[in-house]
Amino acid sequence: MKVGVLGATGAVGRQMLECLAERHIDCEVKAFASERSKGKKLPYNGGEVVVETVDEHSFDGLDFVLGAVSNALSKKYRPWIEKAGAVYIDNSSAFRLEEGVPLVVPEINGEDALKNHGLIANPNCSTIITMMALAPLLKLGKITAINACTYQAVSGAGMGGIAELSEEVSAFARGEKIEPKVFPAQIAYNCIAEIGSYNDNGYTTEEMKMQNEGRKILHLPDLKVTCTCVRVPVFRSHSISATVQMDRYVSVEDAEKEIAAFDGDILCKETIPMPLDTSNQDLVYVGRIRRDLCNDNGLVLWCCGDQIRKGAAANAVEILEYLLKHKK
Ligand code: A2P
Repeated sequence: MKVGVLGATGAVGRQMLECLAERHIDCEVKAFASERSKGKKLPYNGGEVVVETVDEHSFDGLDFVLGAVSNALSKKYRPWIEKAGAVYIDNSSAFRLEEGVPLVVPEINGEDALKNHGLIANPNCSTIITMMALAPLLKLGKITAINACTYQAVSGAGMGGIAELSEEVSAFARGEKIEPKVFPAQIAYNCIAEIGSYNDNGYTTEEMKMQNEGRKILHLPDLKVTCTCVRVPVFRSHSISATVQMDRYVSVEDAEKEIAAFDGDILCKETIPMPLDTSNQDLVYVGRIRRDLCNDNGLVLWCCGDQIRKGAAANAVEILEYLLKHKK
């Protein structure tokens, strides 16, 4: 089996290489990035893989392509991948809402991946982590609405985001002037409640993903979601505070039981999920489960997950694993 990693030098692409090796996916790997990275060697499975640039025939002979490039590049390369007959597991948001393109979190709706026509979309990072925390509640009733606030790490903006926080922290310590390039304002020692561009309704594109993608993943077309996305000076692992409305009363104890039993979740009873403790691993940590004091059928929880892993690379590799496992 041959697997291509598109955008292999980026934060998510590098992690995809690591996840492929870690999960012992038996394959030959090809790594693709821009002209800038041609010939560069990336660590893979105890050895190295040499980065290649992309042309129309780069994907020929590949069985799968894991994508970690921008929407524009994903749109450009999709027809070449399709022509090569490879299955494209795309991390960009370019095709997530397209009819006929499964949007998959394997633990929640893995079977949707089997209905693919050559393209499967990996959902938004905060959406994956939030849905992982809330999906277990579907065993207890219907989710009618979610109100979420995200606390998103800088690595969600790629390698550039990580560099910007490091550089700003150093510049701040030296008393130098800070000039943000990746984020709309200084991120060191700050919070920025603006991720993505604005829609007409005053919400950002990032905020609307929680509703639009959440509906598709959970198969709940009427689900209502209000979301505020905030960039915080954390390197890795997103946190989300979510208030969920159910169509009936669900006890905290029952919610905890279902979350504890759900594949991919860790219930925290004595500890508080935190970015530092949940970085560089694939599980979603869920804690602080309590009653919503505004609505009788509501519950409130706090969850954390590594958005480069479960929110992106690990989820994509899990989709690949799911396809291999359920291959007819
Ligand atoms: P490169 O490192 O050569 O620029 P991130 O969002 O973490 O910055 O990652 C973006 C990824 O997309 C990188 O691997 C980057 O490669 C890759 N990329 C950028 N331009 C192209 C291109 N024209 N073709 C393929 N990959 C690209």
